[in-house]
Amino acid sequence: MRDAAAAPTPDRVLPPNDPRQYDDLAGEWWRPDGVFAMLHWLAEARAALVPPADRPGALLVDLGCGAGLLAPHLVGKGYRHVGVDLTRSALVQAAAHGVTAVNGDATAVPLVDGCADVVAAGELLEHVPDWRRAVAEACRLLRPGGLLVLDTLNDTAVSRVVAVHLGERLPTVPRGIHDPRLFVDARALVAECARHGVELRLRGVRPEVRGLLGWLVRRMRNAGAPAGRAPRIVPTRSTAVLYQGWGVRKG
Ligand SMILES: C[S@@+](CC[C@H](N)C(=O)[O-])C[C@H]1O[C@@H](n2cnc3c(N)ncnc32)[C@H](O)[C@@H]1O
Repeated sequence: MRDAAAAPTPDRVLPPNDPRQYDDLAGEWWRPDGVFAMLHWLAEARAALVPPADRPGALLVDLGCGAGLLAPHLVGKGYRHVGVDLTRSALVQAAAHGVTAVNGDATAVPLVDGCADVVAAGELLEHVPDWRRAVAEACRLLRPGGLLVLDTLNDTAVSRVVAVHLGERLPTVPRGIHDPRLFVDARALVAECARHGVELRLRGVRPEVRGLLGWLVRRMRNAGAPAGRAPRIVPTRSTAVLYQGWGVRKG
């Protein structure tokens, strides 16, 4: 299904969720029609949950920031954007987009307690073998009254089918990027956040169907050419596949 112009052809096959995949795909991050296309759509939807900063010098810590796709959607909101990621090749690109890049693990973040007005964890938790530790770190970094925003994949059978067996066959998600054993049970996530003082609200999200189909058709027809307007991410009643969470840390 993938056209030659767009398909990265890494010369090695890595296990599911191996972080070295992000090095092999480094040239894809900022291609809006590349294999990380959906991350661009999700970044816009995540940023919509972030209000303008309420004080000068407010800090947003972006855990698992990748190449900084959130950055353009924060412009004008008044945050210093610090990104933490394991993948150096992605951080170089994040820095080029104005993110203060920190090479580190989301389960042991080298930043002080309570430093963040906002912590974002977009499409991160489902890649972290110990997602509970990453949640603990996210909550530790938040100042009282600070906001946690995240999106991730639910640990359900339908999620494994939609996100892996179907999703990874589309040109919007790299094949083998997910290990479904790491998907994050929504109820367990809410409970874990509550343990760390953040009452998390959830809603399911998905790409708007007509927009997605139109985008896929345009992309297949014009292999290598821009597929045009990106599909919007819209709320959906079920959190069974992809969901957003947001919540404020108690004072
Ligand atoms: C699917 S990408 C999402 C990137 C970015 N949040 C976005 O939405 O564009 C997952 C990112 O998490 C990073 N990552 C995976 N495990 C990590 C960990 N334990 N600590 C920090 N970063 C991690 C990967 O290097 C990759 O950049």
